Amino acid sequence: MRVLVTGGAGFIGANFVHQTVRERPDAQVTVLDALTYAGDRTSLDPVADRVELVEGSITDAPLVDRLVGEADLVVHFAAESHNDNSLNDPSPFVQTNLIGTFTLLEAVRRHGVRFHHISTDEVYGDLPLDTPDRFTADTPYNPSSPYSSTKAGSDLLVRAWVRSFGVQATISNCSNNYGPYQHIEKFIPRQVTNLIDGVRPRLYGAGLNVRDWIHVEDHNSAVWAIIDKGTIGETYLIGADGETNNLDVVRTLLEIFGRDADDYDHVTDRPGHDLRYAIDASRLRSELGWAPRYTDFREGLAATVGWYRENEPWWRPAKALTEAKYAASGQ
Ligand code: NAD
Ligand code: DAU
Repeated sequence: MRVLVTGGAGFIGANFVHQTVRERPDAQVTVLDALTYAGDRTSLDPVADRVELVEGSITDAPLVDRLVGEADLVVHFAAESHNDNSLNDPSPFVQTNLIGTFTLLEAVRRHGVRFHHISTDEVYGDLPLDTPDRFTADTPYNPSSPYSSTKAGSDLLVRAWVRSFGVQATISNCSNNYGPYQHIEKFIPRQVTNLIDGVRPRLYGAGLNVRDWIHVEDHNSAVWAIIDKGTIGETYLIGADGETNNLDVVRTLLEIFGRDADDYDHVTDRPGHDLRYAIDASRLRSELGWAPRYTDFREGLAATVGWYRENEPWWRPAKALTEAKYAASGQ
């Protein structure tokens, strides 16, 4: 099977490519990635002999048409992915997340190629802190940020292309991922690399916002379950019952590093900051027989800390610039 992975030099995409090469010896993988600040070709070094990396944008219609025409399956991870960046400049989010997804959809329509669209639970907006409610595939879309609204728009494009043109597509909406190769602008790797540098973690606002953490390997095994066994046109929610507030994540990291439990700082909150995300993934479990392997969050975090300790050359070049951007916003 010839698999085209967009955004395969980013965090989740690179882990997907590693997992695919490891577990699917028959897969021929091509990555299409623009290598923005968030993409890193060295993330594919361990599988370089099995993967072709094409540097280019998903908004480049002739390039996309050629690569899609040579594929049996497209797995679409490429996106501008960081909420804070979308608040500073929404423009690349509209280009990549909306125009890029449109460009891919037109190509898979022309060539009749199977398409899986990777999306986020943030399309549903947020939940109150103090209810047992969780997102399901029937929750109405209500995105808060330029990032999540462009992801919501891209999901709706996929649904329309399925219904209007018979495109063979599935969609997954996953909660917050953690694990190796995550850009250090994101919450967990930012705090891990701060702690490696002896710097105190930074919590937005009171730190009570809740995210539903899932290990990236579990996200990607769910994506393969949907590709293998999912129903065309369906949306599947991916989550591993990992609800934790940001303060508790920081406290766990401080404990792993042997630091005091109150060794952190509160900083300026994110404008429009979503309160809580929580996924009901029961359909994925019951219909597709999927289950997560990383069920102990502390253990998964400790392994992730180990990865960042051992792979400083991978993240160090981005650290100073990333922190300078945060400092400019008082974060
Ligand atoms: P990331 O920012 O780490 O990686 C994105 C990748 O896309 C990078 O390699 C970047 O170079 C590439 N890219 C950006 N613009 C491109 C363009 N125009 N053409 C080609 N490539 C381009 O993101 P991530 O965290 O790995 O997220 C991957 C996908 O998963 C995104 O669609 C995101 O919305 C979704 N998602 C992420 C999470 C999470 O917790 N990180 C959770 C649910 C869903
Ligand atoms: O829910 C899925 C989404 O998870 C994905 O769609 C996004 O691509 C991904 O970036 C992530 O979005 P969040 O905005 O939830 O992730 P982030 O890592 O930016 O922040 C996680 C939480 O931590 C959030 O409540 C903000 C907070 N935070 C973040 C940073 C960077 C802090 O308290 N301090 C920080 O320094």
